[in-house]
Amino acid sequence: MTSEQRKSFGSDNHAGAHPAVLSALMTASAGDATAYGDDPLTREVIAALRAEFGAAEAFFVFGGTAANVLGLGLMLRPFEAVICAESAHLNGDECGAAERVLGSKLLTVPAPGGKLTPDLIASRLAGRGNSHRAQPRAVEIAQATEVGTCYTLDELRAISDFCRSSGLLLYVDGARLANAAAYLDCTLADLAAHADVLSFGGTKNGAMGAEAVIVMNEPLAAAMPFQRMQLMQLASKMRFLAAQFGALLDGELWRANAAHANAMARRLAEGAAGVPGFRLAHPVQANAVFGVLRRDQVDALQRDWNFYVWAEEGGEESVVRWMTAFDTTPAHVDAFAAAIRETAPRASQPVA
Ligand SMILES: Cc1ncc(COP(=O)(O)O)c(C=O)c1O
Repeated sequence: MTSEQRKSFGSDNHAGAHPAVLSALMTASAGDATAYGDDPLTREVIAALRAEFGAAEAFFVFGGTAANVLGLGLMLRPFEAVICAESAHLNGDECGAAERVLGSKLLTVPAPGGKLTPDLIASRLAGRGNSHRAQPRAVEIAQATEVGTCYTLDELRAISDFCRSSGLLLYVDGARLANAAAYLDCTLADLAAHADVLSFGGTKNGAMGAEAVIVMNEPLAAAMPFQRMQLMQLASKMRFLAAQFGALLDGELWRANAAHANAMARRLAEGAAGVPGFRLAHPVQANAVFGVLRRDQVDALQRDWNFYVWAEEGGEESVVRWMTAFDTTPAHVDAFAAAIRETAPRASQPVA
């Protein structure tokens, strides 16, 4: 097996598109349809999304960064700020998109396990009313988080209660919302009930470039048609974004895809458990395994396998991220786990 043939554990974005999504695109391609969302398929899938989430409105966009910027943009005036985890994708991996486009400051907090709490949010509220300080107005959390953990429904409720009683709006980055719903065995509406606005990621779940911004707080939706156009996220051939979500919603394919990816991550964690030199960095809840591994083991594995080093731990260790997707098979996982085990003899010395 060459490294080209091995399944990538680098990202759920490395996976192709789900066959049902591709087939829905073929079906949607027949004939003409009015552009910019004024077509029957888009109307139908938007209605299905609104019903699924119990939402006021739903809007398709091309990418997760755009969903975050547009979603937060509904909540903020330029002098208002967003409280988020230091590890938030919004903060570390979107090239400052929100800061540039919205002009809003991010107030970051170190968040253990990638999760904010009411206390952590409260720690960034000093300066309210002081005209020298950016004014906290929105809180951003990711569900699932960047490190593959999920907020429980109780944790979400506590954050949302705190936000509502503190004059803050809650935005949920749901690039992997499906994985969180599958892990928690809850509905999308259960998760959305706590947010004012959230994103619902299709791309990491089997779509080929389709995300939705879901607006729960109705008055916030009014600006979206204009901001989405101005920020270049209004698809002319909108039916193709709708078709992808239509396929994912059909029979809850989104949940099957996410549950499968999550199960493959658990299988991988079990396969790596007990390998000398390896330990989990975070609980495995969504479709990611974050582990600590000796650097010589990382080097040996990366010769053949595609995955990212997330952070250097200092000393001889690295934090690695292994991600699974809807199309990761048990055989893929078992081959990778066997390769991880093979690195063990070279790493039998305890880390100083
Ligand atoms: C949690 C999270 N949010 C947002 C994004 C951004 O998505 P995109 O790359 O489509 O802009 C990602 C992408 O990896 C992500 O992991």
